[in-house]
Amino acid sequence: MSTEIAAGRPAGPPPNPHLWSRDGFNGDICVTSRPYPIVEYTDVRGPHVPQRVDLASVAAADHTDAAAPPTIIAHSRTDATISVSRRIAPTPFLWRNAENDELHFIQEGEFDYLTDFGFMHCSPGDFAYIPRAVTYRVVPTTTSALRVIVETPSQVALKPPAPFGMINFARDVGRPDPGRAPALDGPVQLLVKSFDGVTEYTLPRDPMALNAIIGGSVPVWRLNLAAIQPLTYLTHGGPPDSFAETADRDLLFYTLSARSGDRPPMHHNADYDELIFYFRGPGEYGSITAPGQLAWVPKSIAHWGPNEDVPDGYLAWLIESTGTMRLTPDGAAAAQLMETGEFGVSNATRLPGAGE
Ligand SMILES: [Fe+2]
Repeated sequence: MSTEIAAGRPAGPPPNPHLWSRDGFNGDICVTSRPYPIVEYTDVRGPHVPQRVDLASVAAADHTDAAAPPTIIAHSRTDATISVSRRIAPTPFLWRNAENDELHFIQEGEFDYLTDFGFMHCSPGDFAYIPRAVTYRVVPTTTSALRVIVETPSQVALKPPAPFGMINFARDVGRPDPGRAPALDGPVQLLVKSFDGVTEYTLPRDPMALNAIIGGSVPVWRLNLAAIQPLTYLTHGGPPDSFAETADRDLLFYTLSARSGDRPPMHHNADYDELIFYFRGPGEYGSITAPGQLAWVPKSIAHWGPNEDVPDGYLAWLIESTGTMRLTPDGAAAAQLMETGEFGVSNATRLPGAGE
């Protein structure tokens, strides 16, 4: 330890701790103590601003138009997108993504997913993974529905820090049931999404009809957020770790549910935007109390974040994105400026102009 650090070290926890980190929580770091919090701001002008999005307030087109696609609320420089779906009617066509893997999160409602590899039922809190070139359609089985759909051109894989502990693969990772693969009567309409639009095919028979799985492993899975164990370090806490990531590590997926430990330090995340999705309580996550809230902190912007050691508990998840995110007009319409201490709505003034 250097003389400077040792000489400046107070007794007990340091005030206003601050962490600068590379590669999410996995690279170089430097931790400091500051004389006062550095997350406040009073005015801001421009596009790189923290915001909160009320997902239920997004005007999702597929809520009233069964043929509409999910509504994109954010996109990144690396071609990842985040969409909101409020589909309550069965998909009237088959869907296949030619460019992107899809990771769905069920915020509200129950859904039957009919896929190339069979039937999979999904409930609130479930992640449902559908890689590119897999055909599927969705049948909601409840009258209210809200899903978050992440699309990425890179392959998503479950990759917890150890083969057991964070995820119990045998117990909690579900796969479609190939014995339940109800086919539609033909002809059927198939929509294939590519970088330049949607191509519509009419097929004489349902291509998802299935005899049996006879080799390999089924690439579609489901996993509930509540089944993913948060990682911490006792007794003071420490960084979380991801349970899934894309092959190029453009996106990292974490549970950010309640866990023991001290409040995290103030943070400058050098390489990743942070997008926190509060799924539900009963416990509050700082100023976030309503289910279905997205708290977005763009990379390099100072944030502290609430205490995560909440006795009543809550469930939340986090995307780290190397591609800088921007809200679309549909996302911005449901967004408010956010203060980055407790992730509440900010009292600061957002000044017009300069790329807003
Ligand atoms: Fe952070």
